[in-house]
Amino acid sequence: MTAVRTDTAPKQAPEATRFPTGFVWGAATAAYQVEGAAAEDGRTPSIWDTFSRTPGKVRNGDTGDIAADHYHRYRDDVALMKQLGLKAYRFSISWSRVQPTGRGPAVERGLDFYRKLVDELLEAGITPVATLYHWDLPQELEDAGGWPQRVTAERFADYSAIMAGALGDRVGMWTTFNEPWCSAFLGYGSGVHAPGRTEPAAALRAAHHLNLAHGRAIEVLRGQLPAAAQTSVTLNLHQVRPLTASAADADAARRIDAVGNRVFTGPMLRGEYPEDLIADTSNLVDWSKLVQDGDLAAISRPVDVLGVNYYTPTLVSTPEKGGGGSGSDVHGASDFSPWPGSEHVAFHLAEGKERTAMNWSIDPNGLYDLLMDVTRDHPGLPLMVTENGAAFDDYVSPEGRVEDPERISYLHGHLDAVQRAVADGADVRGYFLWSLMDNFEWAYGYSKRFGTVYVDYASQRRIPKSSAYWYADVIRRHALPPGGLS
Ligand code: FCB
Repeated sequence: MTAVRTDTAPKQAPEATRFPTGFVWGAATAAYQVEGAAAEDGRTPSIWDTFSRTPGKVRNGDTGDIAADHYHRYRDDVALMKQLGLKAYRFSISWSRVQPTGRGPAVERGLDFYRKLVDELLEAGITPVATLYHWDLPQELEDAGGWPQRVTAERFADYSAIMAGALGDRVGMWTTFNEPWCSAFLGYGSGVHAPGRTEPAAALRAAHHLNLAHGRAIEVLRGQLPAAAQTSVTLNLHQVRPLTASAADADAARRIDAVGNRVFTGPMLRGEYPEDLIADTSNLVDWSKLVQDGDLAAISRPVDVLGVNYYTPTLVSTPEKGGGGSGSDVHGASDFSPWPGSEHVAFHLAEGKERTAMNWSIDPNGLYDLLMDVTRDHPGLPLMVTENGAAFDDYVSPEGRVEDPERISYLHGHLDAVQRAVADGADVRGYFLWSLMDNFEWAYGYSKRFGTVYVDYASQRRIPKSSAYWYADVIRRHALPPGGLS
């Protein structure tokens, strides 16, 4: 078997080419997806606790109450990471665990969990990479209006200061937000994510306040962290492709690029909202009131690295061509669109491609193109692939093993794409596999397994899948194995 590739692919990197010196090999998780201990040590509900308890929102009524029990098993989990040779661990902090009401003083017991986790990682020689927000807003802040309210950005700045104070001496890599697109547009637009609101105008307001919160947090982090610390934000930049070469389909792609990508990269990396985004959505929000004096300067404070998450491309056309596939059902189907102002667009599933258990098409060239596009649009910006991976229907064999050749093929193809992008000039500093272990996959509950380590939820036993040993080998070699897939 060879890595997935199409004839349009740029030429493959020579076999056994090594990744750049210092290239970071990691795996990622997020607090609500793995920690459990939802009501321990002073933690209060986040919007995901509330949402997962609302009937019909999460498959099988699953919740993150126990999840992978990482809160209690973090020592064993770090030992496993060490065994696999991981060099970095990207985790997120549960805001309502450290600041239960979303304002005011921190809870020491909550902070202690992260201090202990970080110490354990450092002890094991694994670099901690902390994300301040991976979707779990304290419920109290949602009750006060949530991200559509400007004040939430100020609350986030305070929370960032608490975390920089608690971990700044030992965490050298910080990410403000993970995929703010999902928080804004799945949380407040399509409603498939917490808090489950379906208000397109609120989704756009949320996007601006997430941007503002990012900028305020960068200011706080820069003020408190040692000079060598790195700051970043992680975006799920949609690799948008028009279905045909027609001008109309190109315009559909432009709209989705605006409300999916440039709504974040515009203010963060250029200090402005794109004019076409403003025009496309002016019936929903008055941008001149939403964006206040000084906001753009705050949002565009420089980051050291841009994190990009990539799983699958997004194929779009004008509505006449039908569709209804990927894009309208990212992370879960809904009667409402996550794309405000984009009634003129239809989404499609790529024909003839292999798919993961999420029904996402497998297309490593999408990652290559994405890294090259960002490099072209923002020359010199260091990049990090902060998530990439796939769900498959993994199971434990009678011999107690979990064989996941499809995941190995997926990872091989995507790492090859990273390597090609590096060879062609993209400054990619690292790669984080999503995910270290199976976990609570949001609206899909525990039905989708993204881990390279299998979790038997009944016993909480961890079983590294064959991809984990494959990844460990890649890390050891600092290169893809010679001879393609083993
Ligand atoms: C990303 C999320 C991550 C996980 C993967 C599959 O959008 O950041 O938590 O759900 O998708």
